Amino acid sequence: MSKSKHPSGAPWRNFYGRFRGKTIRAAQHEYLENDLGRLSPGPVSWEENPDRVPLDLNALFPDREIWLEIGFGGGEHLVHMAQTYPDIGLIGCEPFVNGVAMLLGKIRKARVSNLAVHPGDVRDLFDVLPDESLSKVFLNYPDPWPKTRHHRRRFVTPEHLAPLHRVMKTGAELRVATDIEDYVRQTLQQVPPHGFTWQAAHPADWRAPWPDWQSTRYEQKALREGRTPHYLTFTRD
Ligand SMILES: C[S@@+](CC[C@H](N)C(=O)[O-])C[C@H]1O[C@@H](n2cnc3c(N)ncnc32)[C@H](O)[C@@H]1O
Repeated sequence: MSKSKHPSGAPWRNFYGRFRGKTIRAAQHEYLENDLGRLSPGPVSWEENPDRVPLDLNALFPDREIWLEIGFGGGEHLVHMAQTYPDIGLIGCEPFVNGVAMLLGKIRKARVSNLAVHPGDVRDLFDVLPDESLSKVFLNYPDPWPKTRHHRRRFVTPEHLAPLHRVMKTGAELRVATDIEDYVRQTLQQVPPHGFTWQAAHPADWRAPWPDWQSTRYEQKALREGRTPHYLTFTRD
């Protein structure tokens, strides 16, 4: 067996974030046990889908546009979007189980039914998303990795941007929010060469959020700590 693969056949993908944080409450365990199955977008993991057969998105959300939120954290923005746009099918992706549990609580309260959840790494989801299947993608406050030697762990690198381009439709919108100036630099340098165009004037000013924006836990922390949110919009060429 090649050293670069798991027994399931999955390629070895370094993941530097956290899968688990503080204790998960009993109620949250119950959400994870009972709700995740029915919210699945289909077989994403290498164990369930070793041949990487593309997901049947039309069966998941018949005749709807599909939007994706990468790294939804506690799910504030994702649930807000699902409520605001009931005719859209939304997929959320987050490997941090405490965040997934928080999202599930919010889904129960909001009673939204146009959401699917992949509780894992977006790279595994990219593998099984059909070409040109997404009409909008949100990347809200991706992990900043401030040290120069860690910049290659950031989302805005070829490992993520090449499959992201493949799964987005022509003209689809990519929204990136970040409070880290050097992340803005790397985003503006890396995203356009992967087949995206920066919509410099949309929103009108990079300091003004999108009209349908919902602030997130991470953004609130950034504001408390005196950092400035930046909102960048790209379209897929
Ligand atoms: C700084 S947090 C921001 C969370 C949330 N978007 C917010 O604004 O509050 C970044 C999130 O990205 C998630 N993340 C990191 N790597 C990821 C990956 N490969 N696939 C999906 N999510 C990822 C992390 O687990 C974390 O929850």
